[in-house]
Amino acid sequence: ASLPETDHENFLQCLTLNSDNSTSISKVIYTQNNSSYSSILEFSIENLRFSTSTTPKPLVIVTPLQVSHIQASISCSQRHGMQIRVRSGGHDYEGLSFVSDVPFVVIDLINMSSISVDTKNQTAWVQTGATIGQLYYRIAEKSKTLAFPAGVCPTVGVGGHFSGGGYGFLIRKYGLAADNIVDAQLIDVKGRFLDRNSMGEDLFWAIRGGGGASFGVIIAWKIKLVAVPPTVTVFNVQRTLEQNVTKIILKWQQVADKVHEDLMIRIFLRSVNSSTEQGQRTMRVLFESMFLGGVDQLLPLMQKSLPDLGLVKEDCIEMSWIDSILYFAGFRNGESMDVLLNRTPTTRRFFKAKSDFLKEPIPETALEGIYERFYEEEAEATEMILSPYGGKMSEISESEIPFPHRGNLYQIYHAVYWDEEGNEIAQKHINWIRRLYSFVAPYVSKNPRAAYVNYRDLDIGTNNNKGSYTSFKQASIWGVKYFKSNFNRLVHVKTKVDPDNFFRNEQSIPPLSSWW
Ligand code: FDA
Repeated sequence: ASLPETDHENFLQCLTLNSDNSTSISKVIYTQNNSSYSSILEFSIENLRFSTSTTPKPLVIVTPLQVSHIQASISCSQRHGMQIRVRSGGHDYEGLSFVSDVPFVVIDLINMSSISVDTKNQTAWVQTGATIGQLYYRIAEKSKTLAFPAGVCPTVGVGGHFSGGGYGFLIRKYGLAADNIVDAQLIDVKGRFLDRNSMGEDLFWAIRGGGGASFGVIIAWKIKLVAVPPTVTVFNVQRTLEQNVTKIILKWQQVADKVHEDLMIRIFLRSVNSSTEQGQRTMRVLFESMFLGGVDQLLPLMQKSLPDLGLVKEDCIEMSWIDSILYFAGFRNGESMDVLLNRTPTTRRFFKAKSDFLKEPIPETALEGIYERFYEEEAEATEMILSPYGGKMSEISESEIPFPHRGNLYQIYHAVYWDEEGNEIAQKHINWIRRLYSFVAPYVSKNPRAAYVNYRDLDIGTNNNKGSYTSFKQASIWGVKYFKSNFNRLVHVKTKVDPDNFFRNEQSIPPLSSWW
């Protein structure tokens, strides 16, 4: 992707001319000639599939310090034919926040990450360049009994995460991050600074679950904090096939969405080399849980709902909510919560992921078929995470926000990881996960086969990215999978706020146009 040098320079010149003088924009513009360009670009790339020598790179990266830098970037990109990609935490599974096939600029919000927590009113303003780890830290700094229901990995950015939904261990009690947003600030295609009041309820609805990238640059969210007890209980127990894990999973499917909403038990399916039979693989299944209360309350609940797991007091640890964040992020050696402020991703690998939703339990034969696939050669680093719904998730209507997947038993995250660069090796693993995805098709949601926009998957359909034209019909192929009937309303909002489709990517909401 390259522009004639003159256009590129005109774009840069436009940026300097269009920014006010309070803090010069020139300090936060990085072109490919700048020695910091690569380190800034690479810094928050989570999926190494989009960090190779052949990955298209932005002509310019802007790391705004203030709103006027964003306004200048939007206006100059329009004038000089550049596409914009907005990056918050950089965790997009398909790299859409920093990769494009056309000449483009990345607005990386890393410098706009201030957070102010108001414990009295139980709210917080968080700028979209912040990570959820930073947000959790700032909440815990002020209160041990306030929290926020968002994701598990601390380096996920609040910009992408909240605009696509965002869930973690509090989902059954409090729903999604996007369900708990009460105001927002956004710069629209005309460069206007809008809040909930001035953007109107339609646009405010759209950015809470419809993905932010189609509608403008979101600057900040105002969120409602939620109450947690001073002590929560966590456990993380493994079971094998010899311990009858299949039976436990089958029972879990019957109860996980129905147990008390203070309890969330998710399951990780993984395969490992067998310790008894050489060359054979076997399943290791992990039950990971958080309960909003003490162990003495948890044990009778578990005994009643999932006795076959055989949970005992020694499996459980009581801790504060913020320590549970550290625990689930893999910090288990009494680390200080300061690690949440470190935004360097710790899990960078090559990966491909997909999602599914289920309303019916899957039968034993299907679980066995999944195990078979997990024993294949390409599956040495794969996982399926089953996350239960129910509780608050079933109380919210499908059209309350664009995220429509409410009355499900659970959601599946399918993923395959690898560590070597190369097309062949990537294709081998991607083919494996596509085969797994086909295998589970009969057991998961249908018409549409629903998908979670935050688990971005370009296999389910894309726009024509090179031109701005994509028909409603073509976009509906992926759009109804992410948003069901909310897709129509998202298109309606897009048509109103960005009729010329400036903010676009491979899976952005298209506007309707009289001539399309
Ligand atoms: P990134 O910056 O890549 O943005 C994602 C999308 O949002 C892009 O299209 C981007 O342009 C757009 N965007 C970002 N900021 C914007 C802004 N300010 N204005 C407008 N558009 C903006 N999910 C979950 O629900 N629960 C979980 O526990 C986890 N855990 C998890 C762990 C790991 C290791 C990864 C890689 C991912 C997850 N996720 C997750 C998925 C995560 O929610 C999803 O990838 C988010 O979109 C990431 O948001 P970022 O801001 O980090 O991504």
